[in-house]
Amino acid sequence: MTQDELKKMVGEKAATYVEDGTVVGLGTGSTVKFMVDALGARVKNEGLKIVGVPTSDRTAAQARSLGITIKTVDEVDHIDLTIDGADQIDKDFQGIKGGGAAHLFEKIVATNSKRNIWIVDESKMADQLGSFPLPLEVIPYGSEQVLRRLEAKGLQPAFREKDGKRVLTDSKNYVIDLHLGHIDDPFGLAEFLNGQVGIVEHGLFLNLVNTVIVGYPEGPKVLNA
Ligand code: A5P
Repeated sequence: MTQDELKKMVGEKAATYVEDGTVVGLGTGSTVKFMVDALGARVKNEGLKIVGVPTSDRTAAQARSLGITIKTVDEVDHIDLTIDGADQIDKDFQGIKGGGAAHLFEKIVATNSKRNIWIVDESKMADQLGSFPLPLEVIPYGSEQVLRRLEAKGLQPAFREKDGKRVLTDSKNYVIDLHLGHIDDPFGLAEFLNGQVGIVEHGLFLNLVNTVIVGYPEGPKVLNA
């Protein structure tokens, strides 16, 4: 089975968790794309009525094109369930997100959601976080100083670039990735990063997820945190 087939499998599985009449946070990324496709099919074929709260311009455009009603996080009074992908998940269900530069909006939607489900293929599960670089969304103004501060701390920072240009988030901020190799104390690191002026949000999602659906060639496995 290819990685895409595993992503599709968990995306379709997660879409079955969505109930009629609910407000659903829609994550971002290649795995979520399959889930949104499956939700769009349910809207069309079953007449499922939901309001989607997208976490990026990409997801908003896809949901809209499939006829899913969307609202911003500020237009809804609650979110029942958010379904999102992840870049790495450790054995304690702590996660790294932001590989698609959307972790700021994803974290805002996740923290305002009653329940969070992550959908991943088996390659995302790890004993320890950190082999996937940790994304930070940073304000452009003063970002070189932020980089220097992180360098001095030994956190191996690098601006994320694409085609020779710095990647911009939907909020027109930069992304700095920390190439740490391993993160021994995710909570301590999160506290340090939370205290750094200029960093809008980091990609450590700690104690946020309720359920993880992992795609294996034998089928999806549902893990409750
Ligand atoms: C977006 O910034 C990320 O948090 C994604 O949710 C994460 O990178 C997973 O993406 P894929 O499903 O494309 O691997």
